[in-house]
Amino acid sequence: MKKLILVTGGTGYIGSHTVVELIENGYDVVIIDNLYNSEAEVVDRIAKITGTTPPLEVFDLCDAARLESFFRKYQNIDGIIHFAAYKAVGESVHKPLEYYRNNLVSLMNLLDSMKKTGIPAFVFSSSCTVYGQPEKLPVSEDSPIQPAVSPYGNTKQIGEEIIRDTISSDPNIRAIALRYFNPIGAHPSGLIGELPRGVPENLVPYITQTAYGLRDELKVFGNDYNTPDGSCIRDYLHVVDLAKAHVIAIERLIGNKNKSGFEIFNLGTGNGVSVLEAIKSFERATGVKVKYRITSRRAGDIEKIWADPSLANRELGWKTVSSLDEAMRTAWEWEKFIRKPHGNEN
Ligand code: WQD
Repeated sequence: MKKLILVTGGTGYIGSHTVVELIENGYDVVIIDNLYNSEAEVVDRIAKITGTTPPLEVFDLCDAARLESFFRKYQNIDGIIHFAAYKAVGESVHKPLEYYRNNLVSLMNLLDSMKKTGIPAFVFSSSCTVYGQPEKLPVSEDSPIQPAVSPYGNTKQIGEEIIRDTISSDPNIRAIALRYFNPIGAHPSGLIGELPRGVPENLVPYITQTAYGLRDELKVFGNDYNTPDGSCIRDYLHVVDLAKAHVIAIERLIGNKNKSGFEIFNLGTGNGVSVLEAIKSFERATGVKVKYRITSRRAGDIEKIWADPSLANRELGWKTVSSLDEAMRTAWEWEKFIRKPHGNEN
């Protein structure tokens, strides 16, 4: 019998790519999403890619009564991958209570349901943001957690602690937290990708929108950092590589192959890339020039961070395969796809 996985936030950027990988690896999927930052139409695109339409239940995970009735409807769920959360760092500074309430109440409601229903496996979207500016690079999982610079980042730190304590109290629940570095790119079909609302905060959507002519120029936030070319360094990984890690993580939990109740893995390439190198990669991969200008630093930016992914390489048998150029090329294909009128999707 096929295993059934609940994917919360399954119409979002990383969620939708993970749903595709799950279906292609023989899982049944049900999605919960409140469509706060995504569109129901994504399910049709997932169907175009995979030939399967996963059911989408539209509601807010903070609604515990609604979640209980969901679990009465779907009684055979084998595991949960939890993406649904607010994720804008800047916005979280202005709306801290919204961020704490949304990200933490939804998490606690899900964990509560796992205790009640006996669902044993939980994969949590965490972030390299928990490391702040690490003293040692590349950063491994045992590097110290730094005080969070934003309420958003704090919800990821507190989220990991809530999971750890819940698991200590209940031997039937096992979990994996995946600390993502910087996911970029889009599905090679060009049918799903990142859809930022309004002006993008992240580098790659800003690059693709500038290349498309939607933005006048890209601002490079600082060239006076202590890095070879002066711009900040990050670890950019292809979203499809990232999605595949979730399939491995849920398999590991369902198959009871994890060594402890709660495991944490860095997901990155292991390579640090500067902002200026990222722009060059986009130009090389697409043949399209990006107009950019060096401006002042952005408040709260980390100077440099990249992953030591060796634990995930070793324990999960996972590593990134897609190059930076390939990720940039797919990001560009996706940008062009979403700017075209689609008419009837079918
Ligand atoms: C990357 C680099 C910018 C935009 C992300 C997520 C955050 C958290 C951590 C998940 C930086 C520079 C950007 C622009 C620029 N992830 N930049 N011009 O800062 O690593 O944060 O990872 O939990 O939610 O947002 O990613 O894409 O914003 O920036 O020069 O217009 O690009 O200064 O060096 P960041 P980013």
